[in-house]
Amino acid sequence: MDANAVAVPFYDLWHEDGHVPLIRELLPPLLAGVRRGVIEIGAGTGLITEVIARATPAEIYAVEPSLGMRSVLVSRLAQDPPALRRVTVLPCGALDVDVDEPVEAVVMISVLQSFSAAERAELWRVLARQLEPGGRLLFNWRQRGAAVPGELVSMGSYPVGRHTYEVAGQVLDASGESVTSRFVYRTRQRGVVVSEDEVVSTSHWPAGEVLVAELKEQGFVAEDAPDGMQVWSLPA
Ligand SMILES: C[S@@+](CC[C@H](N)C(=O)[O-])C[C@H]1O[C@@H](n2cnc3c(N)ncnc32)[C@H](O)[C@@H]1O
Repeated sequence: MDANAVAVPFYDLWHEDGHVPLIRELLPPLLAGVRRGVIEIGAGTGLITEVIARATPAEIYAVEPSLGMRSVLVSRLAQDPPALRRVTVLPCGALDVDVDEPVEAVVMISVLQSFSAAERAELWRVLARQLEPGGRLLFNWRQRGAAVPGELVSMGSYPVGRHTYEVAGQVLDASGESVTSRFVYRTRQRGVVVSEDEVVSTSHWPAGEVLVAELKEQGFVAEDAPDGMQVWSLPA
């Protein structure tokens, strides 16, 4: 069962309002020169897949374990026949990725928080194996303040025909780098709630020095990156 399925109809509305516009600016220059292969980890509904497909002529492996997210991704690709021919959608998690030839770049946007510290150790190993020598690992990351449990707060509200789609969030628990949050997805008509679903999930937000140690341990080397992005490469 896809626990996040109830969030899928809200996803593009909410994130078009969040990280996606900035990534549309920051990511294309970081993919300069990439021509053969890219793996995108946690492709979601394809908002970033579209950016990668426009920025490079490379073949793209879009890894997305959630059926709901993947369905929107394939529908998005169906609107763009050249991209549809170039993007292979892999219905698995990042730790199970194994593509035929090593790629020049791995892109992972707003997915890092899905992995616990133990899973990250395996993630960096898997991704290092999928990259060719000199390949680049690109992901977004910011140092965050400590999360504090609190009340449910509104995170976005979007008109859809006669309805309003609302997303609200609440931090339930914070311990070390892990934060458990409750997200409430509501649809209203004339102010009256006509549907309401919630998802409780735990995210992991490693500190900068933790990430640096983990990536160096796997042989990655830090490259210059714009604020909000991380670029790591394997020795050529
Ligand atoms: C916040 S969304 C980001 C989607 C897309 N990258 C974007 O920026 O619009 C996180 C995505 O990571 C996916 N995800 C969660 N765990 C994953 C895993 N272990 N391997 C690959 N993807 C995963 C989720 O299904 C979800 O689609």
